[in-house]
Amino acid sequence: MIVIITGANGFLGQRLSLFLNDKTISVIATGRGPCRIENINLQDVKYIPTDLTKAFETDKLILENKPDWVIHCAAMSKPNDCHTNRDECILQNVTGTQNIIDSCQKTGAKLIYFSTDFIFGENGPHSEEDTPDPLNFYGESKLMAETLVKNSGLHWAIVRPVLIYGKQLAGTPPSFLHWVKSSLENNQPIKVVNDQFRTPTAVTDICEGIYAIIQQNQQGVFHLSGSEILTPYQMATMLAKEYQLNELLITPVTSDTFPEPVKRAKHSGLKNDKAKNLLGFNPVSFEQGVKTI
Ligand SMILES: NC(=O)c1ccc[n+]([C@@H]2O[C@H](COP(=O)([O-])OP(=O)(O)OC[C@H]3O[C@@H](n4cnc5c(N)ncnc54)[C@H](OP(=O)(O)O)[C@@H]3O)[C@@H](O)[C@H]2O)c1
Repeated sequence: MIVIITGANGFLGQRLSLFLNDKTISVIATGRGPCRIENINLQDVKYIPTDLTKAFETDKLILENKPDWVIHCAAMSKPNDCHTNRDECILQNVTGTQNIIDSCQKTGAKLIYFSTDFIFGENGPHSEEDTPDPLNFYGESKLMAETLVKNSGLHWAIVRPVLIYGKQLAGTPPSFLHWVKSSLENNQPIKVVNDQFRTPTAVTDICEGIYAIIQQNQQGVFHLSGSEILTPYQMATMLAKEYQLNELLITPVTSDTFPEPVKRAKHSGLKNDKAKNLLGFNPVSFEQGVKTI
């Protein structure tokens, strides 16, 4: 089986490329510019640089390699960047996805699209059937791409994770949890929001969920997220306990302490019952997962 993974230099793409390569799958990783996947053996994993906003490059990638599946992780993934640079956001998140769909239609490749809980508004945690209501432009762009995927006529799956965490890899910026850990290790006091609710997701669980979708030839929308509803402050204190760091350095604050141009839901998070029932998805607890960062 041949699988192309887009966004392979990113946080999720790196982990997914390494994970699926350890299974009996021929992984073709693609990203912008040279390969930055940590500890990759380029004899095992083929890496092909591709700018997905260029239709001819995307066509070349997919038509020449004829994958069984394309797993589309690439995106402009920072809500603030999407808010301030909307044309670029549409180009990366919507046009890029359309280019992939067009190429998959020519070869019959199946498509897994990585979306987000940001397609929803308040009143989480949300199930797959809930009505989308994005609160910011990042969420809007991801929802536009979801619609393209759903109308593509391809064999497709849409996966929605929430606040992905795991070991930091080369060239990827520190995540929220890495920032907490390094601040506490340096005895630096931090303020952490305690009025936003999320269902944080271990990257290893997402890899298992994707493998299940491929193995079972599944279609449809799946919420691959953790099961616990936690605030960033709760996550930070659980991390402090796990690593025996001083949790008194963490002050809980409300979100209005950090005014942002981008609106974010207070009650977000996703319900993962469908993935549990259909895929056998079995996410770790946050207490277990935080040991792996
Ligand atoms: N991280 C989370 O907590 C989270 C939560 C929910 C959903 N998601 C979704 O999950 C997916 C992966 O997220 P992530 O955290 O791994 O993001 P990431 O670290 O920002 O990685 C995204 C990758 O996409 C690449 N990319 C962007 N535009 C491209 C283009 N035109 N052609 C080729 N590559 C392009 C970027 O390349 P460069 O490295 O060159 O910039 C980057 O390596 C995204 O679709 C995101 O929306 C993430």
